[in-house]
Amino acid sequence: MLALDMYNFDKKINRKTNSLKYDDLESVFGSKDIDALWVADMDIATPIFIRDAILKRSKHKIYGYEKTKDKLYSSIQKWQHEQYNWKIKTKDILVVNGIRASLSAGVKAYSNIGDEVITFTPVWTPFFDSVTRNDRKLVKVKLQKNTNSYDIDFKAFTKAITKNTKILLLCSPHNPTGRVWSKKELLKLGNICLKHNIKIISDEIYSDLSFKKFIPIASVSKDISNITLTLNSPNKAFNIAGLNVSYAIAQDRKMYEEFSKIANARYINNITIFSSLAVIASYSKEGKIWIEEIKQYLKNNIRYTEQYLKENIPSIKYKKTNASYLIWLDFTDSSLSHEEIQKVLIKKCKIGLSNGHGFDKETGNKHFRMNLAIPFKEVKSVLKRLFRYNAKIINI
Ligand SMILES: Cc1ncc(COP(=O)(O)O)c(C=O)c1O
Repeated sequence: MLALDMYNFDKKINRKTNSLKYDDLESVFGSKDIDALWVADMDIATPIFIRDAILKRSKHKIYGYEKTKDKLYSSIQKWQHEQYNWKIKTKDILVVNGIRASLSAGVKAYSNIGDEVITFTPVWTPFFDSVTRNDRKLVKVKLQKNTNSYDIDFKAFTKAITKNTKILLLCSPHNPTGRVWSKKELLKLGNICLKHNIKIISDEIYSDLSFKKFIPIASVSKDISNITLTLNSPNKAFNIAGLNVSYAIAQDRKMYEEFSKIANARYINNITIFSSLAVIASYSKEGKIWIEEIKQYLKNNIRYTEQYLKENIPSIKYKKTNASYLIWLDFTDSSLSHEEIQKVLIKKCKIGLSNGHGFDKETGNKHFRMNLAIPFKEVKSVLKRLFRYNAKIINI
């Protein structure tokens, strides 16, 4: 029986394994001598029960092709039901080798060349690329920046809709703001989409790392589920990004078939023997305990950072993160340009953050995303450096 409090998240792990986050520091930031707080994976060991499942299979002498395991589907169904009270069937699920592949396939499946796809900005870059690379028209609707949170601007959303709007790409919970959408917001959004015949593609990869109640948009009403393709994966919460595994859920048959036709044509609907074992191991009893523990640790890193900024560096602003290990930092009080701020962050503070311009040049200007899935000791050290060089960052 696994007990709570059984993991040690404080341990520093050497990540020079050709990892994007560490081994690309020099080429992206021009320095190796900085803390890597950018790429969204965790500097925390992937849980032992996943590593064990992979190790066990790796001992077999042949890594040949394999059929998709029934257990893979039942694990996904059980997880969605038990964690989010959302009932899905095996036939609603398609495994895909990554969310980006599904975003792109979904855009292709539910729209034609030249059609419009709406997304809320700032948002993770592939939400843009998956639209433009398929020759669809990207329509950005800015999230409303209110005192305490980023909110959906329903007026602006409705205004942006035209007869050519075919899809809403939704990030739920939202990267980079860490916003968890409420049932009321999801219903309102879904009903607008229903009214205007717009399909929803909802990327829910951060759902398992929500600090408040997470609701899959497809679970809020039958009608909304019939216009929704949901994308998810244990990737973020279980730190298995390198396994390239995800799944898509469509409860409407026609939507499922349109999506799987593109997925088949692009050969994206197969995963490795190790990825399928990792999903099964994640969505287990041990996985539930892990989720509670890791969330507690990450939430502490986030809340500590928020409090520290509030008390010691109020010129660096933020909205409360309610999901993920990311914090979207706002440096708009600075008189420096975006590029000059980044220079101080790299050269003085010695930290490498995700560039806000990647999340949208306008709403991401003078913003940087910080990845706090690191040992707590390092969080403190990063914050001390931000404090020490704050005058240089703000430059007023
Ligand atoms: C919102 C969101 N979706 C999905 C992913 C991962 O996608 P993929 O499965 O293509 O690696 C990320 C990774 O950063 C993300 O931030």
